[in-house]
Amino acid sequence: MWSNRDERLFFFCENANFSYISTVDLHDDAEKSRSINKGPWGFPFLGILPFMNRRPPHLVYLNMSKQYGDVFSVQMGNNLTVCLGTTKLMKEFFSRNDSTGRPDTPLNNLMEGYGIITSQGALWKRQRVFLHEKFRALGVKLWPNTRFEKSIFVEIEELVTELNDSKGQAVNPARLFGRHIHNVICQLMMSYRFEPNDKNFTMFNERVSRGMQLFGQVLIGEHLRAYLKLPGKMAVLNEIKRNLVDISKFHRDHVIERVKQRETLTAAKEPADLLDYYLDRLDEEKSMDKNDKKNIFPDVDPVKQIVQVMNDLFSAGMDTSLTSLLWTFIMMLKNPEAASKVRAEIRKVVAVGERVTMAHRLEMPYIEAVLLETMRMVSLVPLGTTHVNTEDWKIGEYTVPAGTHIVPLINKMNMDPEIYPEPESFKPERFIREGKFTITDTFMQFGIGQRMCIGNMLARMELFLFFSNLMNSFEFSMPEGEDVPPLDGVLGSTHAPLPFKLCFKPLVV
Ligand code: HEM
Repeated sequence: MWSNRDERLFFFCENANFSYISTVDLHDDAEKSRSINKGPWGFPFLGILPFMNRRPPHLVYLNMSKQYGDVFSVQMGNNLTVCLGTTKLMKEFFSRNDSTGRPDTPLNNLMEGYGIITSQGALWKRQRVFLHEKFRALGVKLWPNTRFEKSIFVEIEELVTELNDSKGQAVNPARLFGRHIHNVICQLMMSYRFEPNDKNFTMFNERVSRGMQLFGQVLIGEHLRAYLKLPGKMAVLNEIKRNLVDISKFHRDHVIERVKQRETLTAAKEPADLLDYYLDRLDEEKSMDKNDKKNIFPDVDPVKQIVQVMNDLFSAGMDTSLTSLLWTFIMMLKNPEAASKVRAEIRKVVAVGERVTMAHRLEMPYIEAVLLETMRMVSLVPLGTTHVNTEDWKIGEYTVPAGTHIVPLINKMNMDPEIYPEPESFKPERFIREGKFTITDTFMQFGIGQRMCIGNMLARMELFLFFSNLMNSFEFSMPEGEDVPPLDGVLGSTHAPLPFKLCFKPLVV
Protein backbone atom coordinates (compact mmCIF):
# COMPACT_ATOMS: atom_id res chain seq x y z
CA MET A 1 0.00 0.00 0.00
CA TRP A 2 0.90 3.62 -0.48
CA SER A 3 2.31 4.73 2.87
CA ASN A 4 1.61 7.99 4.70
CA ARG A 5 5.28 8.76 4.39
CA ASP A 6 5.05 8.72 0.62
CA GLU A 7 1.99 10.95 0.67
CA ARG A 8 3.89 13.40 2.87
CA LEU A 9 6.91 13.25 0.59
CA PHE A 10 4.73 13.98 -2.43
CA PHE A 11 3.19 16.90 -0.62
CA PHE A 12 6.62 18.17 0.34
CA CYS A 13 7.93 17.79 -3.17
CA GLU A 14 4.98 19.42 -4.85
CA ASN A 15 6.20 22.00 -7.27
CA ALA A 16 4.17 25.12 -6.77
CA ASN A 17 5.42 26.61 -10.00
CA PHE A 18 2.91 25.35 -12.52
CA SER A 19 -0.07 26.39 -14.54
CA TYR A 20 -2.06 23.48 -15.77
CA ILE A 21 -5.20 23.39 -17.85
CA SER A 22 -6.51 19.94 -18.51
CA THR A 23 -7.64 18.50 -21.86
CA VAL A 24 -7.19 21.65 -23.84
CA ASP A 25 -7.81 21.44 -27.55
CA LEU A 26 -4.49 21.91 -29.34
CA HIS A 27 -6.00 24.53 -31.56
CA ASP A 28 -7.96 26.59 -29.06
CA ASP A 29 -6.87 29.88 -27.58
CA ALA A 30 -6.01 28.33 -24.25
CA GLU A 31 -3.06 26.60 -25.89
CA LYS A 32 -0.78 29.49 -24.95
CA SER A 33 -1.47 29.08 -21.27
CA ARG A 34 -1.28 25.34 -21.26
CA SER A 35 1.58 23.78 -19.42
CA ILE A 36 2.65 20.62 -17.73
CA ASN A 37 2.40 20.10 -14.03
CA LYS A 38 5.69 18.92 -12.57
CA GLY A 39 5.15 15.84 -10.48
CA PRO A 40 7.11 15.01 -7.32
CA TRP A 41 10.82 15.70 -7.53
CA GLY A 42 11.70 12.47 -5.83
CA PHE A 43 15.30 11.71 -4.84
CA PRO A 44 18.58 13.00 -6.32
CA PHE A 45 19.71 10.79 -9.28
CA LEU A 46 16.88 8.33 -8.62
CA GLY A 47 13.90 10.64 -9.15
CA ILE A 48 10.69 8.78 -8.30
CA LEU A 49 12.17 5.31 -8.87
CA PRO A 50 12.05 4.35 -5.16
CA PHE A 51 8.26 4.88 -5.17
CA MET A 52 7.90 2.28 -7.88
CA ASN A 53 9.06 -0.46 -5.53
CA ARG A 54 5.97 -0.25 -3.37
CA ARG A 55 3.16 -0.51 -5.90
CA PRO A 56 2.88 -1.36 -9.59
CA PRO A 57 3.87 1.69 -11.70
CA HIS A 58 0.38 2.20 -13.19
CA LEU A 59 -1.06 2.60 -9.67
CA VAL A 60 1.72 4.97 -8.64
CA TYR A 61 1.04 7.16 -11.70
CA LEU A 62 -2.71 6.96 -11.12
CA ASN A 63 -2.22 8.24 -7.62
CA MET A 64 0.01 11.06 -8.87
CA SER A 65 -2.53 12.09 -11.48
CA LYS A 66 -5.02 12.77 -8.68
CA GLN A 67 -2.63 15.39 -7.39
CA TYR A 68 -0.85 16.61 -10.52
CA GLY A 69 -3.59 16.40 -13.12
CA ASP A 70 -3.96 14.99 -16.60
CA VAL A 71 -0.48 15.71 -17.87
CA PHE A 72 2.55 15.81 -15.63
CA SER A 73 6.24 15.11 -15.73
CA VAL A 74 8.39 13.06 -13.41
CA GLN A 75 12.04 12.11 -13.36
CA MET A 76 12.56 8.33 -13.53
CA GLY A 77 16.27 7.99 -12.82
CA ASN A 78 17.99 9.30 -15.97
CA ASN A 79 14.76 9.58 -17.92
CA LEU A 80 12.41 12.52 -17.99
CA THR A 81 8.92 11.07 -18.31
CA VAL A 82 5.70 12.79 -19.30
CA CYS A 83 2.43 11.05 -18.43
CA LEU A 84 -0.65 11.66 -20.57
CA GLY A 85 -3.87 11.01 -18.70
CA THR A 86 -6.73 11.77 -21.09
CA THR A 87 -7.85 10.26 -24.35
CA LYS A 88 -7.82 13.72 -25.89
CA LEU A 89 -4.16 14.26 -25.04
CA MET A 90 -3.26 10.76 -26.13
CA LYS A 91 -4.98 11.23 -29.49
CA GLU A 92 -3.41 14.63 -29.94
CA PHE A 93 0.15 13.59 -29.22
CA PHE A 94 0.28 10.03 -30.50
CA SER A 95 -1.02 11.08 -33.91
CA ARG A 96 2.05 13.29 -34.42
CA ASN A 97 4.83 12.05 -36.72
CA ASP A 98 7.39 12.98 -34.08
CA SER A 99 5.75 10.86 -31.37
CA THR A 100 6.79 7.49 -32.74
CA GLY A 101 10.23 7.00 -31.22
CA ARG A 102 10.99 4.27 -28.70
CA PRO A 103 13.18 4.72 -25.60
CA ASP A 104 16.91 4.24 -25.85
CA THR A 105 17.24 1.89 -22.86
CA PRO A 106 19.47 -1.14 -22.17
CA LEU A 107 16.69 -3.70 -22.55
CA ASN A 108 15.23 -2.14 -25.69
CA ASN A 109 18.74 -1.96 -27.10
CA LEU A 110 19.11 -5.74 -26.86
CA MET A 111 16.95 -5.84 -30.00
CA GLU A 112 19.59 -3.66 -31.77
CA GLY A 113 16.84 -1.64 -33.47
CA TYR A 114 15.53 -4.68 -35.36
CA GLY A 115 11.93 -5.94 -35.54
CA ILE A 116 8.79 -3.84 -35.20
CA ILE A 117 8.23 -2.98 -31.53
CA THR A 118 11.50 -1.17 -30.88
CA SER A 119 12.55 -0.33 -34.44
CA GLN A 120 12.22 3.24 -35.64
CA GLY A 121 12.37 5.40 -38.74
CA ALA A 122 12.18 3.87 -42.23
CA LEU A 123 12.69 0.28 -41.04
CA TRP A 124 9.74 0.53 -38.64
CA LYS A 125 7.44 2.44 -41.00
CA ARG A 126 7.97 0.12 -43.96
CA GLN A 127 7.61 -2.93 -41.73
CA ARG A 128 4.21 -1.72 -40.51
CA VAL A 129 2.95 -1.10 -44.04
CA PHE A 130 4.19 -4.53 -45.09
CA LEU A 131 2.73 -6.33 -42.08
CA HIS A 132 -0.67 -4.63 -42.39
CA GLU A 133 -0.88 -5.60 -46.02
CA LYS A 134 0.21 -9.21 -45.47
CA PHE A 135 -1.97 -9.76 -42.40
CA ARG A 136 -4.95 -8.81 -44.55
CA ALA A 137 -3.78 -10.98 -47.42
CA LEU A 138 -3.57 -13.93 -45.03
CA GLY A 139 -7.14 -13.36 -43.87
CA VAL A 140 -6.70 -11.37 -40.68
CA LYS A 141 -9.92 -9.38 -40.99
CA LEU A 142 -13.32 -9.50 -39.41
CA TRP A 143 -14.90 -11.17 -42.44
CA PRO A 144 -16.17 -14.74 -42.66
CA ASN A 145 -14.42 -17.71 -44.21
CA THR A 146 -10.92 -16.40 -44.51
CA ARG A 147 -8.09 -18.91 -44.46
CA PHE A 148 -6.98 -17.50 -41.15
CA GLU A 149 -10.39 -18.22 -39.62
CA LYS A 150 -9.86 -21.83 -40.66
CA SER A 151 -6.47 -21.88 -38.92
CA ILE A 152 -8.08 -20.59 -35.73
CA PHE A 153 -10.69 -23.35 -35.91
CA VAL A 154 -7.97 -26.00 -35.97
CA GLU A 155 -7.05 -24.73 -32.49
CA ILE A 156 -10.63 -24.39 -31.26
CA GLU A 157 -11.52 -27.97 -32.24
CA GLU A 158 -8.49 -29.37 -30.44
CA LEU A 159 -9.15 -27.23 -27.37
CA VAL A 160 -12.80 -28.35 -27.21
CA THR A 161 -11.62 -31.99 -27.33
CA GLU A 162 -9.11 -31.35 -24.54
CA LEU A 163 -11.76 -29.70 -22.38
CA ASN A 164 -14.18 -32.58 -23.01
CA ASP A 165 -11.42 -34.98 -22.01
CA SER A 166 -10.88 -33.10 -18.74
CA LYS A 167 -14.26 -34.50 -17.61
CA GLY A 168 -15.04 -31.63 -15.27
CA GLN A 169 -11.73 -31.89 -13.39
CA ALA A 170 -10.00 -28.62 -12.53
CA VAL A 171 -7.65 -27.48 -15.30
CA ASN A 172 -5.27 -24.56 -15.56
CA PRO A 173 -6.80 -22.50 -18.38
CA ALA A 174 -3.63 -20.43 -18.88
CA ARG A 175 -1.67 -23.59 -19.69
CA LEU A 176 -4.41 -25.20 -21.77
CA PHE A 177 -5.38 -22.14 -23.82
CA GLY A 178 -1.76 -20.91 -24.05
CA ARG A 179 -0.58 -23.48 -26.61
CA HIS A 180 -3.55 -22.74 -28.87
CA ILE A 181 -3.18 -18.98 -28.68
CA HIS A 182 0.53 -19.37 -29.43
CA ASN A 183 -0.33 -21.69 -32.33
CA VAL A 184 -2.60 -19.05 -33.87
CA ILE A 185 0.37 -16.68 -34.13
CA CYS A 186 2.77 -19.43 -35.24
CA GLN A 187 0.41 -20.57 -37.98
CA LEU A 188 0.15 -17.03 -39.29
CA MET A 189 3.91 -16.50 -39.14
CA MET A 190 5.24 -19.80 -40.40
CA SER A 191 2.48 -22.46 -40.68
CA TYR A 192 3.74 -24.19 -37.55
CA ARG A 193 1.76 -25.72 -34.68
CA PHE A 194 3.08 -26.89 -31.34
CA GLU A 195 1.74 -30.37 -30.59
CA PRO A 196 0.94 -31.28 -26.96
CA ASN A 197 4.20 -31.93 -25.05
CA ASP A 198 6.25 -30.27 -27.79
CA LYS A 199 9.67 -29.65 -26.23
CA ASN A 200 9.96 -26.34 -28.09
CA PHE A 201 6.76 -25.16 -26.45
CA THR A 202 8.18 -26.07 -23.05
CA MET A 203 11.36 -24.19 -23.98
CA PHE A 204 9.32 -21.11 -24.95
CA ASN A 205 7.35 -21.14 -21.72
CA GLU A 206 10.47 -21.60 -19.60
CA ARG A 207 12.33 -18.81 -21.36
CA VAL A 208 9.38 -16.44 -21.15
CA SER A 209 8.64 -16.96 -17.45
CA ARG A 210 12.36 -16.88 -16.60
CA GLY A 211 12.66 -13.77 -18.78
CA MET A 212 9.91 -12.06 -16.76
CA GLN A 213 11.72 -12.83 -13.50
CA LEU A 214 15.02 -11.57 -14.88
CA PHE A 215 13.39 -8.50 -16.36
CA GLY A 216 12.04 -7.61 -12.90
CA GLN A 217 15.57 -7.89 -11.48
CA VAL A 218 17.06 -5.28 -13.82
CA LEU A 219 14.07 -3.09 -14.57
CA ILE A 220 15.59 -0.19 -12.64
CA GLY A 221 18.51 -0.33 -15.08
CA GLU A 222 16.13 0.88 -17.81
CA HIS A 223 16.09 4.21 -16.00
CA LEU A 224 19.44 4.17 -14.25
CA ARG A 225 22.23 2.77 -16.37
CA ALA A 226 24.70 2.80 -13.45
CA TYR A 227 22.46 0.23 -11.78
CA LEU A 228 23.48 -2.37 -14.36
CA LYS A 229 27.10 -1.99 -13.22
CA LEU A 230 26.21 -3.34 -9.77
CA PRO A 231 27.56 -6.84 -9.02
CA GLY A 232 25.39 -9.54 -10.54
CA LYS A 233 23.28 -7.25 -12.74
CA MET A 234 25.41 -7.74 -15.86
CA ALA A 235 24.98 -11.48 -15.37
CA VAL A 236 21.20 -11.01 -15.36
CA LEU A 237 21.37 -8.97 -18.54
CA ASN A 238 23.51 -11.67 -20.15
CA GLU A 239 21.01 -14.35 -19.19
CA ILE A 240 18.23 -12.27 -20.78
CA LYS A 241 20.38 -12.10 -23.92
CA ARG A 242 20.83 -15.90 -23.92
CA ASN A 243 17.07 -16.32 -23.52
CA LEU A 244 16.50 -14.10 -26.50
CA VAL A 245 19.06 -16.09 -28.49
CA ASP A 246 17.14 -19.35 -27.77
CA ILE A 247 13.80 -17.88 -28.85
CA SER A 248 15.40 -16.33 -31.92
CA LYS A 249 17.08 -19.64 -32.78
CA PHE A 250 13.69 -21.37 -32.91
CA HIS A 251 12.44 -18.78 -35.42
CA ARG A 252 15.75 -18.64 -37.31
CA ASP A 253 15.75 -22.44 -37.79
CA HIS A 254 12.31 -22.15 -39.38
CA VAL A 255 13.50 -19.42 -41.71
CA ILE A 256 16.53 -21.48 -42.79
CA GLU A 257 14.44 -24.61 -43.29
CA ARG A 258 11.93 -22.69 -45.40
CA VAL A 259 14.68 -21.17 -47.54
CA LYS A 260 15.90 -24.72 -48.27
CA GLN A 261 12.38 -25.96 -49.08
CA ARG A 262 11.85 -23.10 -51.47
CA GLU A 263 15.06 -23.94 -53.33
CA THR A 264 13.50 -27.27 -54.31
CA LEU A 265 10.34 -25.66 -55.75
CA THR A 266 10.00 -25.97 -59.50
CA ALA A 267 7.18 -23.41 -59.85
CA ALA A 268 6.11 -20.29 -57.96
CA LYS A 269 3.77 -21.04 -55.07
CA GLU A 270 1.03 -18.96 -53.44
CA PRO A 271 2.46 -17.62 -50.12
CA ALA A 272 1.19 -19.74 -47.24
CA ASP A 273 2.18 -17.46 -44.38
CA LEU A 274 4.06 -14.34 -43.36
CA LEU A 275 7.42 -16.07 -43.77
CA ASP A 276 6.66 -16.86 -47.44
CA TYR A 277 5.68 -13.24 -48.00
CA TYR A 278 8.92 -12.06 -46.39
CA LEU A 279 11.08 -14.43 -48.44
CA ASP A 280 9.28 -13.48 -51.66
CA ARG A 281 9.96 -9.87 -50.81
CA LEU A 282 13.60 -10.61 -50.12
CA ASP A 283 13.89 -12.16 -53.61
CA GLU A 284 12.24 -9.09 -55.16
CA GLU A 285 14.58 -6.75 -53.36
CA LYS A 286 17.66 -8.46 -54.78
CA SER A 287 17.00 -6.60 -58.02
CA MET A 288 15.88 -3.38 -56.30
CA ASP A 289 17.96 -0.25 -55.83
CA LYS A 290 19.30 -0.22 -52.27
CA ASN A 291 17.87 3.26 -51.72
CA ASP A 292 14.45 2.42 -53.10
CA LYS A 293 11.81 3.64 -50.67
CA LYS A 294 9.98 0.36 -51.04
CA ASN A 295 12.94 -1.53 -49.58
CA ILE A 296 11.68 -3.03 -46.33
CA PHE A 297 15.16 -4.09 -45.22
CA PRO A 298 16.99 -0.75 -45.44
CA ASP A 299 20.56 -1.29 -44.23
CA VAL A 300 19.72 -4.30 -42.07
CA ASP A 301 20.45 -8.01 -42.15
CA PRO A 302 17.14 -9.28 -43.62
CA VAL A 303 17.13 -12.65 -41.85
CA LYS A 304 17.82 -11.00 -38.52
CA GLN A 305 14.96 -8.59 -39.22
CA ILE A 306 12.50 -11.37 -40.12
CA VAL A 307 13.48 -13.29 -36.99
CA GLN A 308 13.04 -10.26 -34.74
CA VAL A 309 9.63 -9.48 -36.28
CA MET A 310 8.63 -13.05 -35.39
CA ASN A 311 9.95 -12.61 -31.84
CA ASP A 312 8.01 -9.36 -31.59
CA LEU A 313 4.72 -10.75 -32.89
CA PHE A 314 5.04 -13.57 -30.39
CA SER A 315 5.87 -11.29 -27.47
CA ALA A 316 3.23 -8.66 -28.34
CA GLY A 317 0.49 -11.07 -29.34
CA MET A 318 0.68 -14.13 -27.13
CA ASP A 319 0.38 -12.87 -23.58
CA THR A 320 -2.04 -10.06 -24.43
CA SER A 321 -4.57 -12.33 -26.17
CA LEU A 322 -4.25 -15.13 -23.64
CA THR A 323 -4.62 -12.81 -20.65
CA SER A 324 -7.59 -11.10 -22.23
CA LEU A 325 -9.33 -14.44 -22.72
CA LEU A 326 -8.61 -15.49 -19.13
CA TRP A 327 -10.02 -12.24 -17.74
CA THR A 328 -13.15 -12.63 -19.86
CA PHE A 329 -13.85 -15.99 -18.20
CA ILE A 330 -13.29 -14.41 -14.80
CA MET A 331 -15.71 -11.61 -15.72
CA MET A 332 -18.33 -14.19 -16.67
CA LEU A 333 -18.00 -15.80 -13.24
CA LYS A 334 -18.22 -12.43 -11.52
CA ASN A 335 -21.18 -11.33 -13.67
CA PRO A 336 -23.40 -14.38 -14.22
CA GLU A 337 -26.19 -12.26 -15.70
CA ALA A 338 -23.77 -11.16 -18.44
CA ALA A 339 -22.83 -14.82 -19.05
CA SER A 340 -26.56 -15.65 -19.44
CA LYS A 341 -26.92 -12.81 -21.96
CA VAL A 342 -23.94 -14.12 -23.91
CA ARG A 343 -25.48 -17.59 -24.13
CA ALA A 344 -28.91 -16.19 -24.98
CA GLU A 345 -27.36 -14.18 -27.81
CA ILE A 346 -25.59 -17.25 -29.17
CA ARG A 347 -28.73 -19.36 -28.83
CA LYS A 348 -30.65 -17.02 -31.16
CA VAL A 349 -28.16 -17.80 -33.90
CA VAL A 350 -26.76 -21.34 -33.44
CA ALA A 351 -27.68 -24.44 -31.43
CA VAL A 352 -25.74 -25.60 -28.36
CA GLY A 353 -22.40 -27.10 -29.37
CA GLU A 354 -22.60 -25.77 -32.92
CA ARG A 355 -19.72 -23.60 -34.06
CA VAL A 356 -19.94 -19.82 -33.94
CA THR A 357 -18.03 -18.39 -36.92
CA MET A 358 -17.08 -14.94 -38.16
CA ALA A 359 -20.23 -15.07 -40.30
CA HIS A 360 -22.24 -14.78 -37.07
CA ARG A 361 -20.28 -11.85 -35.66
CA LEU A 362 -22.63 -9.07 -36.68
CA GLU A 363 -25.50 -10.90 -34.99
CA MET A 364 -23.57 -11.05 -31.73
CA PRO A 365 -22.86 -7.47 -30.66
CA TYR A 366 -23.07 -8.32 -26.97
CA ILE A 367 -20.19 -10.80 -27.19
CA GLU A 368 -17.87 -8.26 -28.79
CA ALA A 369 -18.97 -5.72 -26.20
CA VAL A 370 -18.16 -8.18 -23.38
CA LEU A 371 -14.64 -8.63 -24.78
CA LEU A 372 -14.01 -4.88 -24.89
CA GLU A 373 -15.61 -4.15 -21.55
CA THR A 374 -13.36 -6.79 -19.99
CA MET A 375 -10.23 -5.21 -21.50
CA ARG A 376 -11.38 -1.81 -20.24
CA MET A 377 -12.09 -2.92 -16.71
CA VAL A 378 -8.90 -4.87 -16.17
CA SER A 379 -6.60 -2.51 -18.10
CA LEU A 380 -4.74 -5.27 -19.82
CA VAL A 381 -1.80 -3.05 -20.81
CA PRO A 382 -2.25 -0.25 -18.27
CA LEU A 383 0.61 1.95 -19.48
CA GLY A 384 0.63 0.98 -23.16
CA THR A 385 4.13 0.96 -24.59
CA THR A 386 6.35 3.94 -23.90
CA HIS A 387 6.96 6.32 -26.82
CA VAL A 388 9.61 9.02 -27.11
CA ASN A 389 9.23 12.31 -28.97
CA THR A 390 11.83 12.63 -31.72
CA GLU A 391 11.64 16.47 -31.74
CA ASP A 392 11.22 18.99 -28.92
CA TRP A 393 7.56 19.56 -28.07
CA LYS A 394 6.19 22.82 -26.84
CA ILE A 395 3.24 22.46 -24.50
CA GLY A 396 2.29 25.96 -23.39
CA GLU A 397 5.34 27.39 -21.65
CA TYR A 398 6.89 24.01 -21.20
CA THR A 399 9.37 22.40 -23.60
CA VAL A 400 9.38 18.63 -23.63
CA PRO A 401 12.88 17.86 -24.90
CA ALA A 402 13.27 15.26 -27.65
CA GLY A 403 13.91 11.84 -26.14
CA THR A 404 11.44 12.24 -23.27
CA HIS A 405 9.57 9.07 -22.33
CA ILE A 406 5.88 9.56 -23.08
CA VAL A 407 3.64 7.24 -21.06
CA PRO A 408 -0.12 7.01 -21.65
CA LEU A 409 -2.10 6.34 -18.46
CA ILE A 410 -4.52 3.95 -20.12
CA ASN A 411 -5.79 2.63 -16.78
CA LYS A 412 -6.76 6.18 -15.79
CA MET A 413 -8.63 6.74 -19.05
CA ASN A 414 -10.42 3.41 -18.63
CA MET A 415 -11.88 4.55 -15.34
CA ASP A 416 -12.78 8.09 -16.40
CA PRO A 417 -16.46 8.54 -15.41
CA GLU A 418 -16.89 11.21 -18.09
CA ILE A 419 -16.17 8.61 -20.76
CA TYR A 420 -17.46 5.53 -18.98
CA PRO A 421 -20.23 6.42 -16.49
CA GLU A 422 -20.06 4.14 -13.41
CA PRO A 423 -16.64 2.91 -14.50
CA GLU A 424 -16.43 0.30 -11.72
CA SER A 425 -19.48 -1.54 -13.12
CA PHE A 426 -19.21 -4.20 -15.79
CA LYS A 427 -21.50 -2.81 -18.50
CA PRO A 428 -20.90 -4.25 -21.97
CA GLU A 429 -23.93 -2.26 -23.15
CA ARG A 430 -21.75 0.85 -23.23
CA PHE A 431 -20.24 -0.53 -26.47
CA ILE A 432 -23.63 -1.06 -28.10
CA ARG A 433 -25.42 1.73 -29.95
CA GLU A 434 -28.80 1.15 -31.58
CA GLY A 435 -28.32 -2.58 -31.30
CA LYS A 436 -24.90 -2.51 -33.02
CA PHE A 437 -21.50 -3.12 -31.51
CA THR A 438 -19.65 0.21 -31.53
CA ILE A 439 -16.06 0.95 -30.58
CA THR A 440 -15.84 4.51 -29.36
CA ASP A 441 -12.80 6.56 -30.33
CA THR A 442 -11.98 6.81 -26.65
CA PHE A 443 -11.24 3.08 -26.42
CA MET A 444 -7.47 3.04 -25.93
CA GLN A 445 -6.60 -0.59 -25.14
CA PHE A 446 -4.80 -0.98 -28.45
CA GLY A 447 -3.18 2.43 -28.29
CA ILE A 448 -3.82 5.04 -30.95
CA GLY A 449 -2.01 6.78 -33.78
CA GLN A 450 0.83 5.56 -35.89
CA ARG A 451 2.13 2.99 -33.44
CA MET A 452 -1.28 1.59 -32.57
CA CYS A 453 -1.35 -2.18 -32.04
CA ILE A 454 -0.81 -3.91 -35.35
CA GLY A 455 -2.49 -7.10 -34.12
CA ASN A 456 -5.77 -5.59 -32.97
CA MET A 457 -7.84 -7.26 -35.72
CA LEU A 458 -6.07 -10.54 -35.07
CA ALA A 459 -6.81 -10.26 -31.35
CA ARG A 460 -10.46 -9.32 -31.85
CA MET A 461 -10.92 -12.18 -34.29
CA GLU A 462 -9.36 -14.88 -32.14
CA LEU A 463 -10.97 -13.64 -28.93
CA PHE A 464 -14.41 -13.62 -30.55
CA LEU A 465 -14.02 -17.15 -31.93
CA PHE A 466 -12.40 -18.74 -28.85
CA PHE A 467 -14.73 -17.09 -26.35
CA SER A 468 -18.03 -17.59 -28.18
CA ASN A 469 -17.29 -21.23 -29.02
CA LEU A 470 -16.22 -22.13 -25.49
CA MET A 471 -19.30 -20.37 -24.11
CA ASN A 472 -21.44 -22.37 -26.53
CA SER A 473 -19.84 -25.69 -25.63
CA PHE A 474 -19.22 -25.59 -21.89
CA GLU A 475 -20.40 -24.33 -18.59
CA PHE A 476 -17.55 -23.62 -16.23
CA SER A 477 -16.98 -22.91 -12.56
CA MET A 478 -14.22 -22.47 -9.99
CA PRO A 479 -13.04 -25.69 -8.29
CA GLU A 480 -15.04 -26.31 -5.13
CA GLY A 481 -14.00 -24.05 -2.25
CA GLU A 482 -11.98 -21.67 -4.44
CA ASP A 483 -12.85 -18.02 -4.97
CA VAL A 484 -13.02 -16.25 -8.29
CA PRO A 485 -9.68 -14.38 -8.70
CA PRO A 486 -9.79 -10.68 -7.79
CA LEU A 487 -9.55 -7.94 -10.41
CA ASP A 488 -6.23 -6.87 -8.89
CA GLY A 489 -3.91 -9.24 -10.68
CA VAL A 490 -0.17 -9.19 -11.22
CA LEU A 491 1.65 -6.86 -13.56
CA GLY A 492 4.13 -8.51 -15.90
CA SER A 493 4.13 -7.80 -19.62
CA THR A 494 0.34 -7.48 -19.15
CA HIS A 495 -1.94 -7.09 -16.17
CA ALA A 496 -2.74 -10.77 -15.64
CA PRO A 497 -5.03 -12.58 -13.18
CA LEU A 498 -3.50 -14.52 -10.31
CA PRO A 499 -3.12 -18.22 -11.26
CA PHE A 500 -6.47 -20.03 -11.15
CA LYS A 501 -8.15 -23.21 -12.28
CA LEU A 502 -11.54 -23.88 -13.87
CA CYS A 503 -13.79 -26.91 -14.22
CA PHE A 504 -15.44 -27.26 -17.64
CA LYS A 505 -18.57 -29.37 -18.21
CA PRO A 506 -20.12 -29.80 -21.64
CA LEU A 507 -23.38 -27.89 -22.08
CA VAL A 508 -26.31 -30.25 -22.37
CA VAL A 509 -27.76 -30.16 -25.88
C1 HEM B 1 -5.97 -8.10 -26.50
C2 HEM B 1 -4.88 -8.12 -27.20
C3 HEM B 1 -3.92 -6.97 -27.42
C4 HEM B 1 -3.81 -5.76 -26.80
C5 HEM B 1 -4.67 -5.20 -25.66
C6 HEM B 1 -2.71 -5.05 -27.42
C7 HEM B 1 -2.28 -3.78 -27.05
C8 HEM B 1 -1.23 -3.12 -27.63
C9 HEM B 1 -0.76 -1.81 -27.23
C10 HEM B 1 -1.36 -0.95 -26.12
C11 HEM B 1 0.31 -1.50 -28.01
C12 HEM B 1 1.18 -0.25 -27.91
C13 HEM B 1 0.78 0.79 -28.90
C14 HEM B 1 1.71 2.01 -28.82
O1 HEM B 1 2.93 1.86 -28.82
O2 HEM B 1 1.18 3.11 -28.73
C15 HEM B 1 0.52 -2.61 -28.91
C16 HEM B 1 1.51 -2.64 -29.87
C17 HEM B 1 1.74 -3.73 -30.68
N1 HEM B 1 0.98 -4.88 -30.77
FE1 HEM B 1 -0.65 -5.32 -29.66
N2 HEM B 1 -2.16 -5.85 -28.39
C18 HEM B 1 -2.88 -7.02 -28.43
C19 HEM B 1 -2.67 -8.08 -29.30
C20 HEM B 1 -1.71 -8.14 -30.27
C21 HEM B 1 -1.53 -9.23 -31.21
C22 HEM B 1 -2.40 -10.48 -31.27
C23 HEM B 1 -0.44 -8.92 -31.98
C24 HEM B 1 0.18 -9.68 -33.11
C25 HEM B 1 0.35 -10.93 -33.22
C26 HEM B 1 0.04 -7.62 -31.54
C27 HEM B 1 1.13 -6.97 -32.08
C28 HEM B 1 1.56 -5.71 -31.69
C29 HEM B 1 2.74 -5.07 -32.24
C30 HEM B 1 3.69 -5.66 -33.28
C31 HEM B 1 2.85 -3.83 -31.61
C32 HEM B 1 3.93 -2.78 -31.82
C33 HEM B 1 3.50 -1.80 -32.89
C34 HEM B 1 4.55 -0.73 -33.16
O3 HEM B 1 5.43 -0.51 -32.34
O4 HEM B 1 4.47 -0.11 -34.23
N3 HEM B 1 -0.75 -7.19 -30.50
N4 HEM B 1 -0.43 -3.58 -28.67
